[in-house]
Amino acid sequence: MSSQDPRPEIRAAFEAAKGFMPLEEGLALYAAATEAATLGLPLLEVGTYCGRSTILLADAARRAGVTALTLDHHRGSEEQQPGWEYHDASLVDPGTGRMDTLPTFRRTLHAAGLEEYVVALVGRSPQVAALWNTPLSLVFIDGGHTEEHAAADYEGWTPHLAPGGLLLIHDVFPDPADGGQAPHHIHQRALASGTFTELPPTKSLRILRHH
Ligand SMILES: C[S@@+](CC[C@H](N)C(=O)[O-])C[C@H]1O[C@@H](n2cnc3c(N)ncnc32)[C@H](O)[C@@H]1O
Repeated sequence: MSSQDPRPEIRAAFEAAKGFMPLEEGLALYAAATEAATLGLPLLEVGTYCGRSTILLADAARRAGVTALTLDHHRGSEEQQPGWEYHDASLVDPGTGRMDTLPTFRRTLHAAGLEEYVVALVGRSPQVAALWNTPLSLVFIDGGHTEEHAAADYEGWTPHLAPGGLLLIHDVFPDPADGGQAPHHIHQRALASGTFTELPPTKSLRILRHH
């Protein structure tokens, strides 16, 4: 185990949490977060869902003495709505009939003992980004996967990355046969901007360093 690997109990909490990220990508996320956090600035995730990836950012933040921020409106993405491929009926609030991942997220973080290292931002990504004014050491984009949402996440949050900070983009599939193209398109934009250097990817996770 290298110093950039999570402790076994953190890894177990990640694997037990509801969510979509495979372990291999989780380990790459953790290593990137561990490195970025040495800048002494907060880490930000767009797309909390039930907190699976947040566990890793929170533990990396804890070790560096910084805060992990995680942003979600908690109503689910398009593909998580009833009738769609990634719907989980146990996440519907019977009171409203709408998806609500916030209670599960809070239980996940509590169970992992990481609540105090995380600030949860509940709202729409562009609305929160428009109010934002704090430099970030890491921006992890794993929110809405439509062109509109992915572009808004890229445009709203990358201006807040500190020099030397890391931009991570999840679900980048250059071949349309493997998945939706919106994350791939913002990855292409980041490369074309000339302001990032690409680091080695892990599966669909892309990692870029801001100059
Ligand atoms: C793929 S899931 C995140 C998965 C999570 N990172 C994990 O590892 O389990 C995407 C999340 O983005 C949220 N989301 C989608 N569009 C959003 C937007 N415009 N603002 C805030 N959250 C959004 C959805 O509610 C959903 O929970």
